[in-house]
Amino acid sequence: MKEHAKKLAILRKLSDGLFHSGEELGELLDISRSAISKHISVIQGWGLLIYKVKGKGYALSNPIELLSKDKITFAQLPIPILLGVVDSTNQYLLNNMATLKSGQSCFAEYQTAGRGRRGRKWVSPFGSNIYFSLYWKLDDGLPATMGLSLAIGVAVVNALEKLGCTNLKLKWPNDIYWNEKKLAGVLIELSAQSGGAAHIVVGVGINIDLDERFNDDIGQPWVDLASALGGGKMQRNKLANELLISLFDVMNEFESEGLKPFIERWKSLDNFMDREISLQLGSTVTKGICKGIDEQGAILLEKNGILTPFIGGEVSIQKN
Ligand code: BTN
Repeated sequence: MKEHAKKLAILRKLSDGLFHSGEELGELLDISRSAISKHISVIQGWGLLIYKVKGKGYALSNPIELLSKDKITFAQLPIPILLGVVDSTNQYLLNNMATLKSGQSCFAEYQTAGRGRRGRKWVSPFGSNIYFSLYWKLDDGLPATMGLSLAIGVAVVNALEKLGCTNLKLKWPNDIYWNEKKLAGVLIELSAQSGGAAHIVVGVGINIDLDERFNDDIGQPWVDLASALGGGKMQRNKLANELLISLFDVMNEFESEGLKPFIERWKSLDNFMDREISLQLGSTVTKGICKGIDEQGAILLEKNGILTPFIGGEVSIQKN
């Protein structure tokens, strides 16, 4: 069995949220109860709460829906690779790019080193969220990637809206917000190849059901779909499928027409439109009124009647 295969088999059994005895699990995997206990300790470090009750065995605090290739059925892209445990889905595609077809994607149940923008870490507990990456080759090279991250933000919102989520917003350039809190993030990375086509990896993380225990690790206001849907449950496989459909559409449209077809939609979703914001670029902070984006995807700040575009920086609401 491959690394983690036994732990994943235990989790498949426990995913129903019911109690399973050490004996039952041991028999299933042909290992001792003490070996099961050791595997459980490691699994607990993957961000899951597992109860152990004498006479009953082990149970997850909540049932989890594992990703399944039978349920992620979108067929216009190569079949997604489903990973149990990986450092980062973006890194996985970057490492394997030479052998992959454009359009290859992967999902993971757990990332040991999930990463966010600006060198931040992306908290990635097992089985509770979406950790997704997509490899795409843009034949027109690096200049053709301008504004892509904004279009991807729109794609994520489109997928979530299809599944009944409302009041979604975008924070420039591509954070997905709900009720002033971050629900999902996008990280686009390029392979180090020079000249010719651009080889890009689009990474998307969506909080579906994230425990408050992770507050300190996240370090910014966040929300998950469980709250955004008013306690309703989002099916992970359904969301995975919808995300693939939406990204496929957006990537194709972006490839032929660039950012243009997405600009009005982006502006209609802009969380900060007409609000006073600060833009921090290095140690420089610029204040102004947010006026959406220009044709390149730069954020527009208005100050004393003058509009200035910015292509980088971190946006926040001005605190008075
Ligand atoms: C952000 O900081 O807003 C970007 C977060 C991107 C997280 C996703 S999860 C899947 C993919 N793999 C990673 O390591 N990061 C991205």
